[in-house]
Amino acid sequence: MSILFSERTKTFHLFNQEISYVMTVLPNGHMGQLYFGKKIHHKEDFSYLQEKVQRAMAACVFDDDATFSLEHIKQEYGVYGTTDFRHPAVSILQKNGSTLSDFLYESHRITEGKPKLPGLPATYTEEPKEAETLIIKLRDPLTGIVLELFYTIFAKGGILARSVRFQNEGTEAVQLKRAMSLCMDLPDSEYDWLQFSGAWARERHLKVRRLEQGIQAVDSIRGNSSHEQNPFIVLKRPTADETQGEVIGFSLVYSGNFLAQAQVDTQDTTRVLLGIHPFGFGWKLDPGASFQTPEAVMVYSSRGLGDMSRTFHRLYRSRLARGYWRDRERPILNNNWEATYFDFTEDRLVEIAKKAKECGVELFVLDDGWFGDRRNDHAGLGDWIVNRELLPGGISGLAEKIEALGMRFGLWFEPEMVNPDSDLYRAHPDWILKTPGRHASLGRHQHVLDFSRREVVDAVYVMMKKILSEAKVSYVKWDMNRSITECYSEALPADRQGEVFHRYILGVYDLYERLTSEFPEVLFESCASGGGRFDPGLLYYAPQGWASDDSDAVERLKIQYGTSFCYPVSSIGSHVSVTPNHQVYRDTPLHTRANVAYFGTFGYELDLNKLAGEEIIQVKEQIRFMKTYRKLIQFGDFYRLSSPFEKNITAWMVVSEDRRQAVVGWYRTLNGANVPLGRLRLSGLDENLSYCVCEEGLESGACYYGDELMNAGLVTTENGAMDGTLSEKHSCDFDSRIYVLKAED
Ligand code: DGJ
Repeated sequence: MSILFSERTKTFHLFNQEISYVMTVLPNGHMGQLYFGKKIHHKEDFSYLQEKVQRAMAACVFDDDATFSLEHIKQEYGVYGTTDFRHPAVSILQKNGSTLSDFLYESHRITEGKPKLPGLPATYTEEPKEAETLIIKLRDPLTGIVLELFYTIFAKGGILARSVRFQNEGTEAVQLKRAMSLCMDLPDSEYDWLQFSGAWARERHLKVRRLEQGIQAVDSIRGNSSHEQNPFIVLKRPTADETQGEVIGFSLVYSGNFLAQAQVDTQDTTRVLLGIHPFGFGWKLDPGASFQTPEAVMVYSSRGLGDMSRTFHRLYRSRLARGYWRDRERPILNNNWEATYFDFTEDRLVEIAKKAKECGVELFVLDDGWFGDRRNDHAGLGDWIVNRELLPGGISGLAEKIEALGMRFGLWFEPEMVNPDSDLYRAHPDWILKTPGRHASLGRHQHVLDFSRREVVDAVYVMMKKILSEAKVSYVKWDMNRSITECYSEALPADRQGEVFHRYILGVYDLYERLTSEFPEVLFESCASGGGRFDPGLLYYAPQGWASDDSDAVERLKIQYGTSFCYPVSSIGSHVSVTPNHQVYRDTPLHTRANVAYFGTFGYELDLNKLAGEEIIQVKEQIRFMKTYRKLIQFGDFYRLSSPFEKNITAWMVVSEDRRQAVVGWYRTLNGANVPLGRLRLSGLDENLSYCVCEEGLESGACYYGDELMNAGLVTTENGAMDGTLSEKHSCDFDSRIYVLKAED
């Protein structure tokens, strides 16, 4: 990896074995983009890549150069209004009402490793040699605003991390109205656009469409990154697929309002913008003050979507997630939510836990309802004090009982919220986000606490710290069950109200930082009514997240498949629940529910006492299987094989780093009669190794070379439903199989 600068041509070339990123100082002093893609030879002069064409109607920067119009120049951080008419990366409102800026190159520096982003989650290095960072300093001479563009190139993988910092070195306050983390001008628009959209209980469904002239965007202005859209998009060449072709993934390490947009102009160049959503955003920058944007991560691959995903997985698993649990196999848990909802007593919980222990579960999690007056979702949020009527021995007492059974104990919180019917709200009605003179809308009977205020975060911290210090809590599920409305902080003046959404998220990060530092061995799992805030920002603090409130195995195929485009298996919270399923009332076989949940953190969301004896035998077998293979599944290389968005068969697999072991998941949504032959072409194997393939539950299987399995394919052909030889277990809708592959010595 290298970052080279040519003094003569004022050109930067950042490259590693995979990618090159080239930019230059333009004749007007702005930074121009020249190339991003597969690694190319280094040269001092790439100026031919900045095509300058004289175009009718173009307004030009220089009176004597009719070719230099910013509208037609690829830029690093586009500004509006000085000959560029595309949506800009930045907009700064000045005292005189102008929003123009003119950022001129001043200097640059190159450092080993990667600087931290104060108060914000970001990828990091453990050794300085893992990455290099280029910081380009530009200045707007009129306002004195300094703009620093950060680029980190990692030694391995086609990864470039970017962010931006503003510093007001002028004499007057300004308002940042738009401060994107990334602006990427690409020379053409021959791309498919991939987004991951949905709603509560059907998050991150893959949507693909051809990039077109005009603007295509996904966003959130809900205060959380949202169930509806994810701060992640992909541009892929139309011919690219899972295994080949050019793709670029764009991911924002942020949990609040965001915008991800591609604007294709009528000359078919593409501008990608990614960052905090400018809608409603404003940040007052007093003289001397600075503002740091969140980080945006770009991953380029010339080897298709699968390779891009694996690059994100490795980066986010080991250089975004942190702490004790980062590289550890995740405990198999039993959560009581779908087992009891609010209707539990200590005895009932212990009964559930005992059965869980008997089956091999390692962690028992007490979900919502253990505190204050919380007997349903109308009361109690904000009062993080145990309800002794329910739990006479307190949280410590229950935790001790669970520990005595030989399991760890985990606890649910929803730190950012308050019910009007709570002691916290009665004491501090002014601590919620609400606009003066307006109705404060409730969501799930709760208000959102004003986490932009330090004293509010402090108060919640004190309550949570007390519980976590007094009781043996090994896991925290951090929930967040509504979006933000009437966003306004009583603690901020009128000209700072545009800061509230971002300050809120900074408050969330601050509380996470304090708790994770104070309790480094506690495993945090993020959650927002399932996957309403499943984003890279939270992965920095919580290495796993509850992917969706939809625990139905068939629904989960799409959710987990879509999630896998950016997020590692180790981050995807996935549980086996009862049938009929509580969200879609579907009956699915127990083996399929487990076969889907294996590809995540794995656990149970039910009362195992209610299962029949023969099902308990299956559960014990599932837990044994997961304990044997979870290291491989959670930390191996993940390959998507067949998409639930396109086919009746979904399939994926995980391969160990040394490629000697693999686990394949095969899922058939609907049963069929007289069905076609089935072949599953595997991926990621060593073509010269011979693998013994064993269907889970069967004693032994045949062996095949890796090249056979990847080219001829694994034969999955089923006997037709009519021929009488199909076993009863598999003659149903929603069937599935797990194949384990082991290389022969
Ligand atoms: C929403 C979460 O996603 C559920 O798993 C559960 O924790 C409930 N909240 C509790 O209120």
